[in-house]
Amino acid sequence: MLCPTSPHLALLALLSVADAVGPGEPCPSEMNTFKHRLRVNCSGQGLSVVPLALPTNTSILLLSSNRLASVSTAAFQHLPELAELDLSGNALGVLHTGPPLPLLQELVLSHNALGVLPTLQGLPALTCLVLAHNNISGLLPGAFRDVGQLTELNLRGNQLRTLPEEAFEGLAMLKDLDLSDNALEELPRRLLAGLKLDKLSLSGNQLRTLPSGFFPEGHILAYVYLAGNPWRCDCGLAYLRGWIEDNDFSIYIQEQRPDGLLTENDPHSPVCDEPLRHHGSPVLEFQQACSKAGDTDLDIDGTMTEEGTPVPSATVPSTTLPPTNPVPPTIASSTTLPPTNPVPPTIASSTTLPATTPVPPTIAPST
Ligand SMILES: *[C@@H]1O[C@H](CO)[C@@H](O)[C@H](O)[C@H]1NC(C)=O
Ligand SMILES: *[C@@H]1O[C@H](CO)[C@@H](O)[C@H](O)[C@H]1NC(C)=O
Ligand SMILES: *[C@@H]1O[C@H](CO)[C@@H](O)[C@H](O)[C@H]1NC(C)=O
Repeated sequence: MLCPTSPHLALLALLSVADAVGPGEPCPSEMNTFKHRLRVNCSGQGLSVVPLALPTNTSILLLSSNRLASVSTAAFQHLPELAELDLSGNALGVLHTGPPLPLLQELVLSHNALGVLPTLQGLPALTCLVLAHNNISGLLPGAFRDVGQLTELNLRGNQLRTLPEEAFEGLAMLKDLDLSDNALEELPRRLLAGLKLDKLSLSGNQLRTLPSGFFPEGHILAYVYLAGNPWRCDCGLAYLRGWIEDNDFSIYIQEQRPDGLLTENDPHSPVCDEPLRHHGSPVLEFQQACSKAGDTDLDIDGTMTEEGTPVPSATVPSTTLPPTNPVPPTIASSTTLPPTNPVPPTIASSTTLPATTPVPPTIAPST
């Protein structure tokens, strides 16, 4: 019951017989009556090594808030029934897996110092893996290939900037993927291929767009969190905008309120950051005539009129633009050029712009 998704069950599970500390056992243990499992609580004891003297039928082991800097699954080989292991709030910088824990279902590693996640091995029954609030800056392709039973994977609050397309490959059972509060700037188009998620959290990242076809067709996600990203509202966002419109019932926002965490349907929660004239307005309300393709080809190939007709930008002297015509944001990278320079169409790729480049609402260099 270490996975945070079932708080009510967790409460039930804590109804238990009195704590008992046997001779040579440093940690109180009790029967978890809900699960009929023996739970041993070694939390907050200043431990720097995993204690050896634990009941052999320990099924739930709490080792949170200790001083473990390095842990191997070898340290739990004397606990053949181990099903849930909480190692949160240690100083864990190294995790070694390999020696098998055949029954381990839940592994909580949040609030540690893991910088690199090794390919997990020997955990065939693992369904819930919590890696929140570590220092993980990258995932290897197929990092979770050997834990194919995972239903919940929490990577919230790490340092992820990019992900390989195969990061979650093989996770056919995965329902809940939390990537919020990282530093993700872009995501590969096929990141979710083969997954059948119920819940996806991308909030609190540095995403400016999502690639066309990012969400698998024909699969409905029940909860998607997209707020807190600097969405760039130009034709490159047409796919995401359309997806939000089609799936408005799935777009949620989470807020910490005095009386607890509020989860609420809010399709207006993803808002534009750029260009300036759309700053703060919901992605859902962003209107711009874009071609059907609505993808980056347009960004590269040229500008567009309000009617959506692609116009090769090199042949259009900007002085002929009516002053009220909004300058297509995809051209806006010309702000890095001297103002009198004609806009070279090949510069226009919006995705290579630094997030902080302000996009002035009008450019129209008056040569
Ligand atoms: C665990 O083992 C102890 C004795 O070694 C026994 O009293 C207890 O009932 C066992 N608990 C479970 C859940 O099997
Ligand atoms: C485990 O033990 C710690 C320290 O004694 C205590 O603060 C904590 O509430 C216990 N946890 C559970 C789930 O019983
Ligand atoms: C996190 O990782 C970076 C390198 O990726 C390192 O410089 C930094 O010290 C790490 N921070 C912690 C708290 O371990």
